[in-house]
Amino acid sequence: MPKVILSAGIGLALAFRAFGAEVVSLDTERTSLVFETGDSPEGTRLYLRHYGARVTDKSSVCRTAWRSESSSEVGYETPTAYTAFGDATGARNTFNGYNPYGGLAVIHADGCLTSDLVVERLERTDETLAIHWKDAFYPFRATQFFRARKDADVIETHVVLENGEASAVRLPRMASLTLAFPLVADRFSVQTTPGQWTCENQLAESELARGQTVSIGSRSGVRGAWGSNPSFMVSIGGTADETSGNVIGVALCWSGVWEASVRRSHTDFLEIDAGACNCAGPYVLGPGQRLELPTVALTYSAAGKGRVSRNMHRWARRHRMPHGTQLRDVVLNSFYATGFGFDETSLLRLMDGAKELGVETFVLDDGWFGNGRYARDDDRRGLGDWTVNGAKLPRGLDFMCGEAKRRGMKFGLWVEPEMANTNSEFYARHPDWVLRERNRRLRVGRGDSQVVVDLANPAARNEVWRQIDAAYASVPDLAYVKWDANADFMNPGSPYLAADRQSNVFFDYAAGYLDLMRRQRKSRPDLTVQACASGGGHTDYASLGFCDEFWASDTIDPRERVMIQWGASQFYPAGAMACHIAVDPFRKVPFKYRADVACSGRLGVEMKPTDLSEADRKFLVSVIADYKRIRPVVQQGDLHRLVSPCDHDHAALMYVAEDRRRAVVFVYGLSRQQRRDFPPPLILRGLDADARYVVRELNMPVKATSHARLADGKTPVSGEALMTSGLPFVLGTADYDSAVFELMAESVR
Ligand code: GLA
Repeated sequence: MPKVILSAGIGLALAFRAFGAEVVSLDTERTSLVFETGDSPEGTRLYLRHYGARVTDKSSVCRTAWRSESSSEVGYETPTAYTAFGDATGARNTFNGYNPYGGLAVIHADGCLTSDLVVERLERTDETLAIHWKDAFYPFRATQFFRARKDADVIETHVVLENGEASAVRLPRMASLTLAFPLVADRFSVQTTPGQWTCENQLAESELARGQTVSIGSRSGVRGAWGSNPSFMVSIGGTADETSGNVIGVALCWSGVWEASVRRSHTDFLEIDAGACNCAGPYVLGPGQRLELPTVALTYSAAGKGRVSRNMHRWARRHRMPHGTQLRDVVLNSFYATGFGFDETSLLRLMDGAKELGVETFVLDDGWFGNGRYARDDDRRGLGDWTVNGAKLPRGLDFMCGEAKRRGMKFGLWVEPEMANTNSEFYARHPDWVLRERNRRLRVGRGDSQVVVDLANPAARNEVWRQIDAAYASVPDLAYVKWDANADFMNPGSPYLAADRQSNVFFDYAAGYLDLMRRQRKSRPDLTVQACASGGGHTDYASLGFCDEFWASDTIDPRERVMIQWGASQFYPAGAMACHIAVDPFRKVPFKYRADVACSGRLGVEMKPTDLSEADRKFLVSVIADYKRIRPVVQQGDLHRLVSPCDHDHAALMYVAEDRRRAVVFVYGLSRQQRRDFPPPLILRGLDADARYVVRELNMPVKATSHARLADGKTPVSGEALMTSGLPFVLGTADYDSAVFELMAESVR
């Protein structure tokens, strides 16, 4: 039997002997992940004994943890660190023989369908653990990496597969996370955030009964956060709420096709799987090849969903996003202001207006590129040709950047590198560098001509990067890029991949996209990058490993945005959530409401300032000025969701600075139902009970009356009072009334 080698890191005693088994664990400030080794005829196993609240005596936890040997249940399940189809990990497995589930499935070179993973070696430090798995018979390896982000209570994990067999193996399933453990409660539910274009991140919650599986995923290929966002929460012991309940939060860092599931077996065993996948057919891994599977971020909260969100936000800011702890600028984006129809003069006028509002970065959206018959004057042409349109911008992009600078603003640019139009030089030269199927009509998307560049093809990727890099290089002071992607796969075939590798296109495309993202970040580390894909299609932590923010949705209707931003906030921090004030004809909503909704994320503007009335313009100037003061709290503070728009006719949320000296509260009336929902005072959270706060109302148009009598900006109230009797406020009985309150600690009692 192979011996497990524990290579100890920096002399830290993380392994203990418990009845001859090795106990291996990772801790964060409030959580523990505990594994224990065990013997089997095939080799050493690694059992999952605990994931949840932090425990000190790990050996005792291992002793008391459920184990198949002690269960009277008939079942094939064994708690294991990485489940594979076919593994025979438990003593009772003699009954059923093998695990018919499992997050990994390998069809070996000789056709064998099962895998039986044993541990070759464990490597660990205080913060990391690497589990080196090998099939008990085949030279197929999986290395599972864990890293504890202690200050955020998040554990990151990913897996690298290696095919040491003589020929290709096929992978019908290749989850990054496949945790299996017995349940310690009798009620469970799964919260997901499904959505599509203009309705991203809508909350959904399902009870998980015995024998049921909740499964989610995206089949888009490009807009991987559509269908469902790649993140979910599992409540253990009844549905958790914002402040109470045990919850596991999972975020899959992947931008392509993915799937995740939570399975509760008839014996109350839970298996959580999440990973990249292929819509059709297995991934084919050649001999000697390695495949790095996406990272998953895992957290646990014993204090409800609110803490899951705060953990994930903190992890994102400190450990995942490139400049997560920096404050984000107020942006004006040209798209809703100009569409494709602009020239130098109209853009300069827009810049003048932006400057007067107090905007800090001016972003030129779609329409600046393509020439001659491929000039991007509408959405039918030009994608793929990333050279400036000389007719619209004769003095080039750098001139525009200089003009922005002259007005005290930075300059940004929109690009859509993943796409081409069939009406483009790119396509005319390389018709085989787009996704297409040999014997089928080429399906096209937006503008009846949009196709997806085959990013699985390194040559296509290089050409895209060469062009994009040259466009960026033509603007040495370029500060911001909005990276868009406005189509699904449409033609799921890669002319580059061999016939027997076609099903690799889903994974290889997403890996190609991330390769471009990596090159962009490496070449321009200071660039601020927005991940956009027809709105929220790139709202995922693979994109946000390289990007600073995401465009939460193409809907700019603030009523819809209340729901979308609420859903996105489950996993994504406010500083990364681009929220723009715009005017659209969809619903008549007070301008103040538009501003109040946008101020709860990374504020931007998406309209012509000249379209505003003088009163609205003045109001917006003061909103932006105030936002700059509150943004450290909004963008970097801890979020507390107070009143859900899903169950009330209003919503409320607040952010609290880490030192608890400052907070900002947002209240949004929805479609008000008079005399049905009398909002009680807002019971605030996260404040310092001993501090005294001065409350003042922000975003007050001229003549507006305050929404809270306490908000006089003078009389201090204790944090204790605000968190017990609350902040009394009134909302008008008309629809879409809203309020923003700023709290500043005055003195400590
Ligand atoms: C997508 C984006 C929009 C805008 C347009 C430009 O729809 O989500 O914000 O950039 O493309 O064509």
